Amino acid sequence: MTDRSLLVLPGDGIGPEVMAEVRKIIDWYGTARGITFDVTEDLVGGCAYDAHGTPLTDATMAKAQEVDAVLLGAVGGPKYDKLDFSVKPERGLLRLRKEMDLFANLRPAQCFDALADFSSLKKDVVAGLDIMIVRELTSGVYFGEPRGIIEEGNERVGINTQRYTESEIDRVARSAFELAMKRNKKLCSMEKANVMESGVLWREVVTEVGKDYPEVELSHMYADAGAMQLTRWPKQFDVIVTDNLFGDLLSDLAAMLTGSLGMLPSASLGAPMANGRPKALYEPVHGSAPDIAGQGKANPIACILSFAMALRYSFDLGDEADRLEKAVEKVLADGKRTADLLGEEGVTPLSTAEMGDAVVEALQAGL
Ligand code: IPM
Ligand code: MG
Repeated sequence: MTDRSLLVLPGDGIGPEVMAEVRKIIDWYGTARGITFDVTEDLVGGCAYDAHGTPLTDATMAKAQEVDAVLLGAVGGPKYDKLDFSVKPERGLLRLRKEMDLFANLRPAQCFDALADFSSLKKDVVAGLDIMIVRELTSGVYFGEPRGIIEEGNERVGINTQRYTESEIDRVARSAFELAMKRNKKLCSMEKANVMESGVLWREVVTEVGKDYPEVELSHMYADAGAMQLTRWPKQFDVIVTDNLFGDLLSDLAAMLTGSLGMLPSASLGAPMANGRPKALYEPVHGSAPDIAGQGKANPIACILSFAMALRYSFDLGDEADRLEKAVEKVLADGKRTADLLGEEGVTPLSTAEMGDAVVEALQAGL
């Protein structure tokens, strides 16, 4: 028996394909390193809707609350576009985030040396880039009330509410400061305090929390200027903390700086459980990519690196996470590429499964 439990939710689109490669990595850790996991697999998103009429059953939700970590592939697809909002695939993911109270979403954007040419920006702007976006994940305009589409006079009005309590800002700010302490002790907070009261409060609370971290150099930026600075000179940043919606946008932007959305992992963390491990969900930043689903073209690296984050943040296996990240780096340095990373002449792309196998081989070779 192992005391490490995982709930694997491959989801929709390319989710199952990339997750199959993560399962190979999990198996490798069991056989080669004696690090075993108790793995259960279940449905989330459109596939759960097809099977049960809901994107996340109560039973799956309950399982997610019990395990040490949830690994999720991706949710959504055009097939579900016309569904009522309450049962859309995305609601399954949002319910997991909300009910597990995963308030701190860590989205690293790291540019691998071998891939610096793939960025849409000049190589010297992105080479060596290593930043961490901490996105608030359980509040803000994604969840604020009132919301809905109402009738007003002879037309309809769409309403969403940006809402943040002091404690919600405080806890995500603390997570960001803690990370900054372990990195380069630089934190930039982004909001729109020039036009939004929630932004004014955000800036005040982050400043207040900063007094507990005198070693961290704290700066503030309006989120629009932040987007501009991220494309102009991203290496000026180390850790960025921002709200749910700005974090959604800025993390996609930061991801693309590194060359491909197919490379970037994320961790969503909540409060510690009774065993000391944080409530946690790990998922690639990319979506379900329905246009390439089922063709073996998807890049499994973002999902594999999400498992590396699980090793680090849920299981206190930082050395093993380093090992896995190094194996990925080695595979890329060897010129192995999935179709999203093509560009060089004469390179044939690896399939999703071949890329997974290459990472396992690199792990084995590194022993
Ligand atoms: C993300 C995604 C999700 C979000 C969707 C799938 C609900 O874009 O994780 O960035 O908007 O948070
Ligand atoms: Mg997004």
